[in-house]
Amino acid sequence: MSVHLNASEGQIAPTVLLPGDPLRAQHIAQTFFDNPVQHNSVRGMLGYTGTYRGQPVSVQGTGMGIASASIYTHELIHSYGVQTLVRVGTCGSYQTGVHVRDLVLAQAACTDSNVNRIRFQGLDYAPIADFGLLMAAYQRAQAHGFSTHVGNIVSSDTFYQDNPGVMQRWAEYGVLAVEMEAAGLYTIAAKAGVRALTVLTVSDHLITHEETTAEERQTTFNQMIEVALEAALG
Ligand code: HPA
Repeated sequence: MSVHLNASEGQIAPTVLLPGDPLRAQHIAQTFFDNPVQHNSVRGMLGYTGTYRGQPVSVQGTGMGIASASIYTHELIHSYGVQTLVRVGTCGSYQTGVHVRDLVLAQAACTDSNVNRIRFQGLDYAPIADFGLLMAAYQRAQAHGFSTHVGNIVSSDTFYQDNPGVMQRWAEYGVLAVEMEAAGLYTIAAKAGVRALTVLTVSDHLITHEETTAEERQTTFNQMIEVALEAALG
């Protein structure tokens, strides 16, 4: 047990998918895992362990934002020995060429959060994905024919922004999309020497405001999970 997880020792697999939404964790386990067993109930932050194509795998909800996701990332690594962490989530696109339902593989993650400024005493750390995982995810996405972008994203502490000029600035510098957790995950994984990747689907477009149906979003979400599982376990 750790402070925020009540799984017993050995109950969590070395490879874990990390959706923000605990109900997405339940959906992933029920849809993709064989013999899923719920390993966490603390705070309703559902987590499950099962197998995928015969290999042990877990999924654990993280909540929204670097603050919440960092707690689960830390405990999974340091209390349960997790070696491979793949965030699966949604993002808002900043680029006209990155469309709703496309996949985004976060090669690196900028942030407006202060957590790394504090950690590095004012210096700027560049949080990056594990290259092997990134390459494997790209290859799997290509093999499936999914529309996929690889590049920089930004992990923001705020979903509702007061200053639209900031979005414009990130976009000018090639940032593909915004979400709220990857920079924290990459930094914590790097210090522990474990592998991390963030795989996202574009759920909303902050420039063109393109729309998509809930059903289409669900289909793309499932495609993303396949890519994440194949890359992490492949
Ligand atoms: N902002 C932050 N995170 C997100 C967004 C957004 O617009 N869309 C999906 N995740």
